[in-house]
Amino acid sequence: MTQSLEFQLTLYPDPILRKVAEPVAVFDSELERIVEGMFARMKASHGVGLAAPQVGLKKRILVLNPTGESADDMAFVNVEIVERSGARVLFDEGCLSFPGIYAEIERPERCIVKACDPQGNPIEREFDGFTSRILQHEYDHLEGVLLVDRMSPAEKVRHKAALEELVARYNSARR
Ligand code: CO
Repeated sequence: MTQSLEFQLTLYPDPILRKVAEPVAVFDSELERIVEGMFARMKASHGVGLAAPQVGLKKRILVLNPTGESADDMAFVNVEIVERSGARVLFDEGCLSFPGIYAEIERPERCIVKACDPQGNPIEREFDGFTSRILQHEYDHLEGVLLVDRMSPAEKVRHKAALEELVARYNSARR
């Protein structure tokens, strides 16, 4: 019997969030269990996307769901963004690794991604709107890039106290 994996969220400023994630080499049942566990964590935390470093894994895996309908579950392994295009749009973004913080972030409207599904089948698809937004955010996690890095100077000032609070909480949990 396969037991599902129970993942905890990795919160800012945990250094694992700063590591560049590594490609997945083997598409096996362990990978499927990881993807399942990531979907479970994302949904339990009311998120729309989650990247593997956010559950402590240095792997190029991300999951997302823009609607909350299970038919819209999407998982991407070894994902690359091959093109970004369209107008640069401002949108209020949150992140499960930055609880309580929402910041207006500017990103291009569309992106084309190449990836594999968890069974190893190749995917190449263009996304726009909310799904493109989530993909670009989660992709950043695989490169060690975080919400705070994308904030404008004004947003950084606005969230200074909340960010410092996360750092203080992380440090006191490690003591
Ligand atoms: Co995030």
